[in-house]
Amino acid sequence: MTGQVNDPVKEVESAREAFEREFERFARFTGEAGAGLSSLKDAESELRGLADLRVRHAGKKSAIAAAKKLIGRVPADQRASFGQLVQTTEAHLTESINAAELALKTFIETARVARESIDVTLPGHRPRPGHLHPITLMRQRIEDIFVSLGYAVEDDREIETDFYNFDALNIPEGHPARDPQDTFYTTQGHALRSQTSTVQIHAMQRRGAPVRMIAPGRVFRRDTPDPTHNPMFYQVEGLCVDRGITMAHLKGTLAEFVHRLFGAETKTRFRPSYFPFTEPSAEVDYSCFNCGGEGCRICKASGWIELGGSGMVHPNVLRAANVDPEEFTGFAFGLGIDRTCARIYELDDIRLLFENDVRFLKQFK
Ligand code: FA5
Repeated sequence: MTGQVNDPVKEVESAREAFEREFERFARFTGEAGAGLSSLKDAESELRGLADLRVRHAGKKSAIAAAKKLIGRVPADQRASFGQLVQTTEAHLTESINAAELALKTFIETARVARESIDVTLPGHRPRPGHLHPITLMRQRIEDIFVSLGYAVEDDREIETDFYNFDALNIPEGHPARDPQDTFYTTQGHALRSQTSTVQIHAMQRRGAPVRMIAPGRVFRRDTPDPTHNPMFYQVEGLCVDRGITMAHLKGTLAEFVHRLFGAETKTRFRPSYFPFTEPSAEVDYSCFNCGGEGCRICKASGWIELGGSGMVHPNVLRAANVDPEEFTGFAFGLGIDRTCARIYELDDIRLLFENDVRFLKQFK
């Protein structure tokens, strides 16, 4: 023995004692797998602690590894028994650690399987499929009718220049008809369209004449919200331009439309009106689908419900869209989808359509 080495046997015994002290908290897992463990997370953290303990007490730099190196240096007569002691101590250390590790891994495995397993006997979550908004349903009904009458469906921009929203529709700067359609302006001379009539110009510029189209879409006005007004609402524009089109075609088309939407007995009524982009112009009413004209809550006792505006396309509008008014004539109309939808579903207030209350909307599946 060299002078630096104290008593190698004592070194091994104290290494074992140090191990036992630290291992005590892991020993409980071995008896009954998982004893004292409260959760999977708890077990995973204990397993990491046990791996550290293995490094410190059975690793390359551990006291038992150092003792192994001493075997060749103890006096020959003590070598065999010292070697034996080191071996059994090391075996005890690794077996204890292995047993605790196995118990922890078993617990973790079982806990993971339990976490991931599905109880097929539990009732499932019924998926709640969405459905179309009442305004979309209304728009689709309108589109179907006009498509079956030979109309194309046009989609167009919601941000417009003054030219399309006003000038080309025969509403020059300073014209009083701009007032009721005051809208929202951007800083670069653009505005949110206040009516779908803008699409009349785009469609004629794109397709020339003859043309037959409807254009459903969103429009914007600085209207104060109330039961019949919203600052954002839906319109559907209609335009038919061809040689020899007259007011009779307009009346026949809208009469056919209300027959298909509300029933063959529905009547139409045209009241003289004014729009700068049509001449002559008319407001269109239809007889109440609920009372047939007798007067009820839905038609506010008048027997009639307003459908929208209409008229013969003004020659200035045809010119603005490069269509020759000497050769072509046409009619146009613009209907409010929200108000028609509210009437059909007997809603007192069109604002309900935009509140996004699922309890309300789910009634329109
Ligand atoms: C127009 O907007 C014309 N462009 C219609 C037209 C087209 C006339 C083609 C002639 C030829 P008016 O401003 O009346 O017209 O609006 C048409 C419809 O939009 C109304 O009948 C109404 O149903 C609906 N409407 C108007 N303002 C609102 C609002 N603030 N909220 C909800 N619906 C509205």
